[in-house]
Amino acid sequence: MRVLVTGSNGQLGLELAGILPERGHEVVAFAREGLDVADPEAVERALEENSPEVIINAAAYTDVDGCEEERDLAYCVNALGPRNLAQVCERRGCQLLHVSTNYVFDGESERPYEPFDPPKPISAYGRTKLAGEEHVMRLTNRWYVVRTAGVYGRGRNFVRTMLRVAGERDSLKVKDDEFISPTYARDLAEGIVGIIEAGRYGLYHLTNAGSCSWYEFTREIFRLAGVETEVIPIPGSQYPLPAARPANGVLSSPGGPELRHWSEALADYLERELAAEDPSGR
Ligand SMILES: NC(=O)c1ccc[n+]([C@@H]2O[C@H](COP(=O)([O-])OP(=O)(O)OC[C@H]3O[C@@H](n4cnc5c(N)ncnc54)[C@H](OP(=O)(O)O)[C@@H]3O)[C@@H](O)[C@H]2O)c1
Repeated sequence: MRVLVTGSNGQLGLELAGILPERGHEVVAFAREGLDVADPEAVERALEENSPEVIINAAAYTDVDGCEEERDLAYCVNALGPRNLAQVCERRGCQLLHVSTNYVFDGESERPYEPFDPPKPISAYGRTKLAGEEHVMRLTNRWYVVRTAGVYGRGRNFVRTMLRVAGERDSLKVKDDEFISPTYARDLAEGIVGIIEAGRYGLYHLTNAGSCSWYEFTREIFRLAGVETEVIPIPGSQYPLPAARPANGVLSSPGGPELRHWSEALADYLERELAAEDPSGR
C-alpha cells in the first residue's frame, strides 16, 4: 500500500516510517515542516501530489499541560487537523487511520476502558483529541481510530526523563495513584500497520498489555537500567500539574489486536534504543 504518514518526526511517526517499508509498503513521510495538518490547503495539496491509499495521522499537539494554555492551537492541530484529513480522504476515496488517546476518558471507571465506554475528557488535550475523533468518524466512511496511552520511543518521553533525573538526584517522588499501560512506540506502530493490513475499519484501543502506576513504571525502568536512585510513591495531589489526568488510564480492546506485556516491551526498548546513547536523549 502507499501510505502517507503525518507527524513523521514524532515518536510514533518515526517508527511508522521505519516499519512500513520493512513490511513492503511504500511510505510518504511528512514532518510538521512539510505538512501542517491544521492547514486545509496544505492537506489537500499533499494528497493530490502523493495519491496515498491510506493516511496515518500521527501528528498531534501532545504537550498535555501546554494544551491548557494554548487551547486554540491545540484545537487547530488535534481537532481541525483530523477534520481536514477526513474531508480530503472522503473526497479522494483514501482510508484514514487517526491516532487518539486514553485521555478522552475521565479515569473514574474501576475497570479498563473499552472502546464502547462513553468518553468524558477532563483536560483541554482530551477534549481536543475527542473532537478530532468525532470529525474523523463523521466525515469519512473509511476510518480507523486507534486510542493508545503512555507512549515512549525516540524523542522526549517519561522513560528518558526519569533516567535523566535519576542521574541528578538520590531519590525522586512519583505518582502511585494514576494507572496506565505504558506503550513502546515501535510495538504501537507494528500494531497499527497490522490494522491497516487487515482493513477492518473501526475504533481500537491499542497499548502494551498489563498496567501499572507511574511509580511502578519508574521502579521497573530503574531496575532494568541498573539505576539505584530511590523512588518514593506519592499521591498525585502532592504533584499538581496544570492539566488533570485520568486516575485510571488503562485501555482494553476485546477482539482487537494484542501487544506484548509492557515490562517485556520496556526491556526491549532499553536494550535497543538506549544502550548505545545518552539515556537523557540529549
Ligand atoms: N505520547 C503519549 O504518551 C501519547 C499517549 C496517548 C496518545 N498519544 C497519541 O499518539 C499519537 C502520536 O504521539 P507521539 O507520542 O508520537 O507524539 P509526538 O512525539 O509529540 O509527535 C507528534 C508529532 O506531531 C507533530 N506536529 C505537531 N503539530 C503539528 C501540525 N500542526 N502538523 C503536523 N505535525 C504536527 C510534532 O511536530 P513537532 O515536534 O515539530 O512539534 C511531532 O513530531 C498522537 O496522536 C498522540 O495524541 C500519545
